[in-house]
Amino acid sequence: MAQSSEKLPRPLGLLAELTHRCPLACPYCSNPLQLDKRGDELDTATWARVFGEAARLGVIQVHLSGGEPAARRDLVEIMAAAHQAGLYTNLITSAVGLRPETFSALVDAGLDHVQISIQDSDAHSADHIAGYEGAFERKRALAAAVVARKVPLTVNAVMHRANIDHVSDMVELALSLGASRVEIAHVQYYGWALPNRAMLMPTREQVDLAVAAVEELRTRHHGAIVIDAVVPDYYARFPKPCVGGWGRRSLNITPSGKVLPCHAAESLPDLEFWSVRDRSLADIWISSPAFQAFRGTSWMQEPCASCPRREQDFGGCRCQAFALTGDARATDPVCHLSPHHAMVAELAAVRTEAAYIYRR
Ligand code: SF4
Ligand code: FES
Repeated sequence: MAQSSEKLPRPLGLLAELTHRCPLACPYCSNPLQLDKRGDELDTATWARVFGEAARLGVIQVHLSGGEPAARRDLVEIMAAAHQAGLYTNLITSAVGLRPETFSALVDAGLDHVQISIQDSDAHSADHIAGYEGAFERKRALAAAVVARKVPLTVNAVMHRANIDHVSDMVELALSLGASRVEIAHVQYYGWALPNRAMLMPTREQVDLAVAAVEELRTRHHGAIVIDAVVPDYYARFPKPCVGGWGRRSLNITPSGKVLPCHAAESLPDLEFWSVRDRSLADIWISSPAFQAFRGTSWMQEPCASCPRREQDFGGCRCQAFALTGDARATDPVCHLSPHHAMVAELAAVRTEAAYIYRR
């Protein structure tokens, strides 16, 4: 499975999970169920070294994420180090806990872009989903500050059964906030979303209406806002090329320094993750067992192994394949060619109105 470094693709994006701490408690959080502790987080100097290594490896863009990155007192220093390394810096924030003076200092230090998650178009519902009263108003306030400083703003709207009927209102809200882009992202069922799947799963009818609404919104708001949206996994015929293909385009670093090919990779069994505490990022990208495990196509089983789409979707999502079949090498069951595909429709039909299991 090992490949020479000449043949290896170079990563373009780095997701830097600065901390798992977060004031919100979204039931679809992509963080692992076992959260990294504050005392295990990488220090400022290590992040600065890693950003330099990332830039030399070919990374163009760093997403400063979490948890809530503003929970780090050294967020401005970390962001400045990424900027000085020549990386385009995107702050992914819940807006809660990011004080106005910290935001201002981030912009002064070179912050390029802000992405704010919005849980719903209605304050009461949004705060209920986030598990934090008053979160919605703080998001509005930060969005106004971002636009006032002329920093490009993306609104990230994660859709599920409780808010998918409001997709038009979410796009209108993003427009009114001054966002240049809105990402209509559907819940991915790993991390905290897996135990909440039956509480979050939309109906087929809801999904069809939302897909049609997005098409109409794209036409209506062409030139005013970019609308990114994909069909949710459980209602698709083919899977998405998760993370652009394993070990091809991006890498994630956890708060404690482990380097992962995707944010849910720790849910897979028997993978060995290397840490930036012990190795350079280039060494990890090229040689770590976790990155080599599903890189390319030689690990595939049928039907992926001989499928003409194998270099397009790379067999879908390894974490979803494992979560649903117990085999990380299996074809993602979202694919209608998977022998396990019927299971996806069965699971999509399981819905309950039980209370969310909030991330804590
Ligand atoms: Fe993609 Fe595998 Fe399905 Fe082919 S069989 S479309 S490669 S997931
Ligand atoms: Fe891990 Fe898709 S989330 S491969």
